[in-house]
Amino acid sequence: MNQAESCWRELGLWPLWVEPSPVTQTVVQTVVQTVAPAPADIAAQDRTPRDAPPLPSEGAPNSWEALQHQVRQCQGCALHQQRQQTVFGSGDTHPVWLFVGEGPGAEEDRQGLPFVGESGQLLDQMLRALGLQRAHQVYIANVVKCRPPHNRTPIPEECQHCLPYLAQQIRWLQPQLIVALGRVAAHTLLATDQPLSRLRGITHEYQGIPLRVTWHPAYLLRN
Ligand code: URA
Repeated sequence: MNQAESCWRELGLWPLWVEPSPVTQTVVQTVVQTVAPAPADIAAQDRTPRDAPPLPSEGAPNSWEALQHQVRQCQGCALHQQRQQTVFGSGDTHPVWLFVGEGPGAEEDRQGLPFVGESGQLLDQMLRALGLQRAHQVYIANVVKCRPPHNRTPIPEECQHCLPYLAQQIRWLQPQLIVALGRVAAHTLLATDQPLSRLRGITHEYQGIPLRVTWHPAYLLRN
């Protein structure tokens, strides 16, 4: 087993390891069909089509820049009060992989970029071990776009306020695989409160796109 394979396994992402190649879509579909069946309750939940939540009142943006502008202007929840800036996301806008974290920390708030603090360094290491690079076929975003005070975990109401932005990003990015990093991303995207241990190792689906759940880099740092 090579390093990338053992890393994918360790993260609970195996067997969704995919070659960055023009046939990736086929590979993903093939693998999705062959993964072990999910426990009945999770599988049933994941088959339920969920409409992507609508965007806030300003109306649907018609471009990536317009969406970025909407996010910058957003005052939809209390998180906007203490932010230095919003953190929209960064990377390849034609990605194979979309990694979704929970929300910006202090360094992300300062730089306006996702995963540039301590967890970001570990995420970079994870990506390297998986043979991936940030800006090449990889996009990184968060559920909430503003830093929660004192880096606390965003509450479900904040996640729900912000989800329409992420949903629109996903609609336009159309990654071939979404990787939910940790509980907040998994629970928000899958609309479940199942423990991570039950969600890992199973291929879920978000708006027709395969979704896998793994540990948040901050959890790995602590453990
Ligand atoms: N930095 C982010 O951008 N997201 C997280 O979830 C954690 C740190």
